[in-house]
Amino acid sequence: MKDYWWRVMVHERDDVVGLDGAILMNRAVWKASGHEETFSDPMIDCRTCKARLRGDQLPGKNGVKRCPNCGGKDLTEPRPFNLMFKTYVGATEDESSLTYLRPETAQAIFVQFKNVLDVSRKKLPFGIAQIGKAFRNEINPRNFTFRSREFEQMELEYFCRPEQGMELLEYWKEERLKFYENIGIGRGKLHVKEVPDAERAFYSKGTYDIEYEFPFGLQELEGVAYRTDFDLTQHIKASGKPLDYFNDETKERFVPHVVEPSAGVDRTVLALICDAYAEDEAPDDKGKMETRIVLRFHPRIAPIKVAVFPLLKNKEALVAKGREVQRLLRPHMNVFYDEGGAIGRRYRRQDEIGTPFGVTIDFETLGEKGDVLRDTVTLRDRDSMKQERVKISELLQLLLTRVT
Ligand code: GAP
Repeated sequence: MKDYWWRVMVHERDDVVGLDGAILMNRAVWKASGHEETFSDPMIDCRTCKARLRGDQLPGKNGVKRCPNCGGKDLTEPRPFNLMFKTYVGATEDESSLTYLRPETAQAIFVQFKNVLDVSRKKLPFGIAQIGKAFRNEINPRNFTFRSREFEQMELEYFCRPEQGMELLEYWKEERLKFYENIGIGRGKLHVKEVPDAERAFYSKGTYDIEYEFPFGLQELEGVAYRTDFDLTQHIKASGKPLDYFNDETKERFVPHVVEPSAGVDRTVLALICDAYAEDEAPDDKGKMETRIVLRFHPRIAPIKVAVFPLLKNKEALVAKGREVQRLLRPHMNVFYDEGGAIGRRYRRQDEIGTPFGVTIDFETLGEKGDVLRDTVTLRDRDSMKQERVKISELLQLLLTRVT
């Protein structure tokens, strides 16, 4: 999924370059960005069961909040809890060496804006993209990987002229919806929430949340925000360095505005798993129907693209051919080789981890049933379970067209 994001957001575009910024940056970065002052959630304690809770996520009726743990109403007043993990750089552990693990990848992009602009020689509008770890000391991590303390973000900061901001916000919302469709998450399960003025960051002129219908409710996968020139301006003020842009043609100098699509890797993968999980009926090795668990991942993002199965492991010629097919495919995609046990069980294991294709090497492949089928294999489709006979010489090309 990350590879596909990088492909469509960076490789296939002339107007975006990639960056891998630092996780540990100077504390001054987090002061300038506003994180040190305001990146906090309201924390509440339950006096009855001692649970530590996030104030903005408590259930309750008519303004009376309850502890989701014990149902108690004896709760403390909310107090702000900063979500950044603290650490110290260098040999001394005091205020002067304090800094934080990054709570988002975006700030590394802003502080590197000028360097990237100078070396990439891009003209506005252009973007800087990054995939990387982010850390937040969440009060209440929950729902598997939905909210965790260490997670990954895929962020693009797309810089533009001020008058292009609103239009580009719409553009990126649509691009990002297309991305989710292209990895197999249909529009039916996606919701676009236009974040109202009162809930938006004060510097944002427009924000959309792209939400997915998880089994535990509608939840955010990604935010697409028009952040104006807030971030660059803050870093200009704090550093005294010019992070502006000079337009050669009009001779104007100005601070670019920015539109930011910011997605969570872990949440998207969780949505992909929820979306792909299915149970249906399939024949076992004796032809009797049984319940099958299958992950119907889009081939494009399936972690393993194809499994190779020699029909029998104690027939040397079958194993040798199987290894040959594995060597043929391996430089191009992730291949799983499995020679053990009944073929039906081997198919079922791959179905469960979402491998879209299975290649079986059998006696026909060896030419033991006549020359017509020599050097052909069966190619099994995970979803339809249909099998087709394919020449080994055409197999790679065929699979490449189906998995990219
Ligand atoms: N630079 C903007 C920014 O960081 P955010 O809405 O705080 O915005 C962006 O985070 C995305 O990162 C979210 O939409 C979500 O997918 C993911 N994310 C945020 N906190 C997370 C957490 N604790 N665990 C997993 N993913 C998280």
